[in-house]
Amino acid sequence: MDLHLAGKTALVTGASKGIGLAVVEGLVAEGAFVVAGARTLSPELAALVAEGNVEFVAVDLAAPDGPAALAERALAGRGVDILVNNVGAVAPRPDGVADVSDEEWQRTLDLTLLAAVRLIRAVLPELIRRRGCIVTISSVNATLPDPLVGDYSAAKAALGSYSKSLANEVGASGVRVNTVSPGPVETGLWLGAGGVAETVSHAGGGTPEDVAASAAAASVTGRFTRPEEVADLVLILASDRLGNVTGTDFRIDGGLIRTI
Ligand SMILES: NC(=O)c1ccc[n+]([C@@H]2O[C@H](COP(=O)([O-])OP(=O)(O)OC[C@H]3O[C@@H](n4cnc5c(N)ncnc54)[C@H](OP(=O)(O)O)[C@@H]3O)[C@@H](O)[C@H]2O)c1
Repeated sequence: MDLHLAGKTALVTGASKGIGLAVVEGLVAEGAFVVAGARTLSPELAALVAEGNVEFVAVDLAAPDGPAALAERALAGRGVDILVNNVGAVAPRPDGVADVSDEEWQRTLDLTLLAAVRLIRAVLPELIRRRGCIVTISSVNATLPDPLVGDYSAAKAALGSYSKSLANEVGASGVRVNTVSPGPVETGLWLGAGGVAETVSHAGGGTPEDVAASAAAASVTGRFTRPEEVADLVLILASDRLGNVTGTDFRIDGGLIRTI
């Protein structure tokens, strides 16, 4: 199926690895040009830059002025048809959510909620001009609050609520706004150094492999989602083939959430 993405320009955050990198790779494979924001240029992203399909922008999206700086670079170039708000991070709290400090809350809110809010504020007039679309990566934790990631869960819930408000606001302007909510995905966030599996392991939860195996077993498919699978869902949502889909959240969790 042709997704009609060839010739479009996308702006993707958290684009150097994990889900963001998979989204960039998928968009480039469909013929789109991508402006990719992250703090560091990974070898995989550098290869796409060398092929001429990607512009990399080094940016700290947790800094209050980071998202606007990224938007400025994209708008000064080829503009933006598709905005993918992917950046976000988890700091597991083995001691629970009650003692999370103001500084820790602010860090979570800056990266996992406000980076998207600030970037959308800067890019929305362009998206309205182009009748573009927004896909934002949320999480199952938006509706599955977990004290291990309580501040992250709250930030993702807020991101979902904000996205729905925005969809209601801009739908008549032709801009679609949807979210994607993955369960555990095979990326550094879960499986890398300092990731969820290692942090829970250090807190006495068995080996990192045990922690990951137990998370995989919690879904009905018995496995983590692959980043490319999340990327495929993002691409389909970005396509005008889904031109009447807006204000919706799409879960991709291997059946982890058992309720309807
Ligand atoms: N993996 C999962 O199980 C899972 C599940 C549900 C939802 N999600 C969500 O999916 C999204 C992507 O997660 P992931 O698993 O792909 O994470 P990841 O593998 O840790 O990748 C995170 C990306 O964000 C960038 N990044 C981190 N901090 C940044 C900052 N301050 N400024 C700019 N870029 C920054 C990283 O690049 P640099 O380090 O180079 O900056 C990297 O490209 C997040 O919103 C996450 O909450 C993930």
